Amino acid sequence: MSTSSHAKGGKHRQILVTSALPYANGPIHLGHLVEYIQTDIWSRFQRMRGHDCVYVCADDAHGTPIMLRAQREGIKPEELIARVAEEHQADFAGFHIQFDNYHSTHSKENRELAELIYRRLRDNSHTFSRTITQAYDPEKEMFLPDRFIKGGCPKCGAEDQYGDSCEVCGATYSPTELKNPVSVVSGATPIEKESEHYFFRLADFQGMLQYWIKGDHMQPEIRHKLEEWFESGLQDWDISRDAPYFGFEIPDAPGKYFYVWLDAPIGYMASFKHLCEQRDDLNFDDYWRKDSKAELYHFIGKDIAYFHTLFWPAMLSGSGFRSPDAVYCHGFLTVNGLKMSKSRGTFIMARTFLDHLNPEYLRYYFAAKLSDGIDDIDLNLEDFQQRINADLVGKVVNIASRCAGFINKRFGGRLESQISEPALHREFVEAGEAIAELYEKRQYNQAMRRIMALADRANQYIDEKKPWVLAKQEDKEEEVQAVCSTGLNLFMILTAYLKPVLPAMAKEVESFLHIAPLTWNNYSVPLIGHTISQFKPLMTRVDPDKVEAMLEASKADLKAEPPQITPADKRQGPLDKDPISPTIEFDDFAKLDLRVARIKAAEHVDGADKLLKLTLDLGGETRQVFAGIKSAYSPDKLEGRLTVMVANLAPRKMRFGVSEGMVLAAGPGGDELYILGPDAGAKPGMRVK
Ligand code: 2FM
Ligand code: ZN
Repeated sequence: MSTSSHAKGGKHRQILVTSALPYANGPIHLGHLVEYIQTDIWSRFQRMRGHDCVYVCADDAHGTPIMLRAQREGIKPEELIARVAEEHQADFAGFHIQFDNYHSTHSKENRELAELIYRRLRDNSHTFSRTITQAYDPEKEMFLPDRFIKGGCPKCGAEDQYGDSCEVCGATYSPTELKNPVSVVSGATPIEKESEHYFFRLADFQGMLQYWIKGDHMQPEIRHKLEEWFESGLQDWDISRDAPYFGFEIPDAPGKYFYVWLDAPIGYMASFKHLCEQRDDLNFDDYWRKDSKAELYHFIGKDIAYFHTLFWPAMLSGSGFRSPDAVYCHGFLTVNGLKMSKSRGTFIMARTFLDHLNPEYLRYYFAAKLSDGIDDIDLNLEDFQQRINADLVGKVVNIASRCAGFINKRFGGRLESQISEPALHREFVEAGEAIAELYEKRQYNQAMRRIMALADRANQYIDEKKPWVLAKQEDKEEEVQAVCSTGLNLFMILTAYLKPVLPAMAKEVESFLHIAPLTWNNYSVPLIGHTISQFKPLMTRVDPDKVEAMLEASKADLKAEPPQITPADKRQGPLDKDPISPTIEFDDFAKLDLRVARIKAAEHVDGADKLLKLTLDLGGETRQVFAGIKSAYSPDKLEGRLTVMVANLAPRKMRFGVSEGMVLAAGPGGDELYILGPDAGAKPGMRVK
């Protein structure tokens, strides 16, 4: 994507920026923060450039999972979302995410806008209704989303699979095909029931969307994905859900509610509208009408591109509003190279990080990693510590701490009355436009590299001049002042360049240098004959004990977190998946014969993506078991290990052979799995009780 089309020269811009709205049923974790930090850096940068940049967000408060969670907690959904809204906002504030407004999709503005958009779409014949058959929980008296039904896979027979796909053999199917299906909510057997649903005819917007995607509105990888979706045909979108549902009732359709994903992006508009009601300088229509001159950018994760690049522009277009200038996608976060994992302590909540570490460490680390692409980014905790210590403490803050002492002690805080190194100063100032361009293009990793190269340059200058040696020589007073003043002027420029990433540190620097807030328009004016304040340490090295303590606390969070029910098709995160199954009687449990088994051999199975063939020694008896653990284990890591198996499971015929039992593994779903094993001393064949 070229910048030129968006960076509208030196012209004053009106920009509206959003991040995806987090669900109101769980805490913010580091995976979420990639996006909020990315967006916040961008909007802070735009404000520093002198543009009007408004950054809005909201909680995504509707849907079945939120309704069910509130029920489980014995409170109203309104109470749940109010509590979570406070927690989310405190977490965001802790990370210096500076929203102009943070609202909720469960708001008056959102209801009005959702109804308006729906009515316009309906009146333009872009919606229709049709009767469909769906799984229904007769006990709970509610229709069940696919992910709320579990049963045996129709293909491979694996038990306890979700209603849409099998995690063992990878098959996708409809929930009606599951063997012995049960409702995750009540344990009842679902029945099929008819209901009238409302649909949005996406294909009406084929032409508009095809034209839109040719524009400079998304990353090439996302455009290619869109082109694939076009090829497979634009499907009608089911935008209604039946009561009981926590959401907005559809106008003139009692008992029918807007699907959460219909009113979620409208939440961007609603949050902005709510802001306009508080600010005289902002006009809603100026930003949202078809011929608006304001710029609109959505920052999102790549998993929700479909909603933002197809449904959303189509909905806007069909209801007479402008389309976004761009939808910017980012990848997911891994920690130490793996998906975040609660058992490893790497599923780190925003709050847990804040309890132990400086939030600006994370802002800088993400900035140093983020590009304009959609690749996943890795938080490697070793690298994290080294990077912060080397770059921020060792390079940047070091410049100030090397210079400020001399200026404070020997010159009463007064800087020299001319610039003695104009060429060096100019070199630093002139780098500003290139750095700005990198910020503009969201190539923060490159921007950080440029800034650190300048920091190296400043340190090199100080190393060459050696003010600590000059300070010992009698006639070198002026030179000491000149070198240290130069150092501090360069430090001021670096602080300006880092300010979108490190706003809190920049504020402390502004107070220590005794200067007005830094912008992209004032850092080039050197401080001459200016008096600074006392230097205070601006940032300390990362304490490895605190990193360790954070990981330990994250493991403890795992135990504290109540089970959640959330459809897992929306966002990464094990939190979203596994609700506790319906209660069983002790007699049912006692039927299980669990045994310690030794893995004698483990082999790949030709043609199976997920399975390994295990030969298990049960203390004299040998069993063959096909286990869906290939994503997490290579066979050589398994051989010789003890594990726990269900020994009395009826043999199952699978495509690759008969499986004579089941090995126990824990995991949030997906590829992350941990084989269970007994403590040292257990022997193959021992019964697990
Ligand atoms: O995937 C999610 O977490 C959704 N809550 C994002 C919604 S973004 C927008 F459309 F509101
Ligand atoms: Zn299967």
